[in-house]
Amino acid sequence: MSNQIERFEDPGLPAHVHRNADLDPLAAKRAERQVAILFLLSAAGTVLTIVSYIYVKSDKYVYLPIMGSTNLQQILLGLGLTASTLFIGLGAIQWAKKLMPDQEEIAERHEFRSEEVDRNDLVATFKERSESTGLGRRSLIKRSLGLSLGLVGLSPLLLLRDTGPLPKKFFTTTDWAAGTRLLLDPAGTPIKASDLEVGAVAQVLPELPAGTERTLENTGKDAVLLIRLRPEDFNLDAQRLSWTHEGIIAFSKICTHMGCAVALYEQQTHHLLCPCHQSTFDVTRAAKVIFGPAARPLPQLAITVDADGYLVAVQPFTVPIGPSFWERNSSNG
Ligand code: FES
Repeated sequence: MSNQIERFEDPGLPAHVHRNADLDPLAAKRAERQVAILFLLSAAGTVLTIVSYIYVKSDKYVYLPIMGSTNLQQILLGLGLTASTLFIGLGAIQWAKKLMPDQEEIAERHEFRSEEVDRNDLVATFKERSESTGLGRRSLIKRSLGLSLGLVGLSPLLLLRDTGPLPKKFFTTTDWAAGTRLLLDPAGTPIKASDLEVGAVAQVLPELPAGTERTLENTGKDAVLLIRLRPEDFNLDAQRLSWTHEGIIAFSKICTHMGCAVALYEQQTHHLLCPCHQSTFDVTRAAKVIFGPAARPLPQLAITVDADGYLVAVQPFTVPIGPSFWERNSSNG
């Protein structure tokens, strides 16, 4: 195959097509009126905005179909602002399309490189100025300037401190332990496998030792989602499959991206979705990330049943829950 670039003729511009308004003065007048009407509608929108802001009481409500009880001032402000921006835009589009000159123009490209004489001038000026500053001779200034410029780049690193304290053990400790019962949230009752139908989702918290108070912080860290699938829907390795019970699988509810609550379960696709930035986790594959910014699967909690048939944790989470952090050991999941 030849590597010669095939040349072709410049096809030039297609023949200019005249618009109605270019040929017919009546059509031009009509277009002018249309544009003017659109601009006037925009002006009316602005007047409506100002009038409703000044004269309509902010606590007045009206009943509107579909929307129900609605704040009158807000709705009028919304309509006014929409009209004022929408119609001014539509007017400008009409004006450009129908009346503004639309003759094609060819702008020749000019050489980007400056003239040789200008380039030489610049180099000469630069040399002359740097000599006049004495930078070449004054090595003390040169070195101290180098040092200060080098250090100034370091100061933004201090801002990293504002990203907050390091989480230390925050994400590695939860109240889940071997034998901890799963309690339905918010009922606080233990749960049996038979309480969950296939396709059902439930949020559970660990049963705390007597006398231990449930805090807001612990509730957030401990929250676990239980999902029941048909056992044949799972695509798990032997270990992860052994962490499920009769098709019930348990994951930390805290998104591994930035810690939002993963709250949306799509029953048909078996996908869990985080509403914050749309990270999507595949429940059948141990919450593997299939979309979005999360970098790790949701940690899976191994579950089984106790002697009374209630669901319990087999062990604590084996990996830290929640978002990634600096001291996190990436080898542990
Ligand atoms: S916090 Fe869940 S996707 Fe960002």
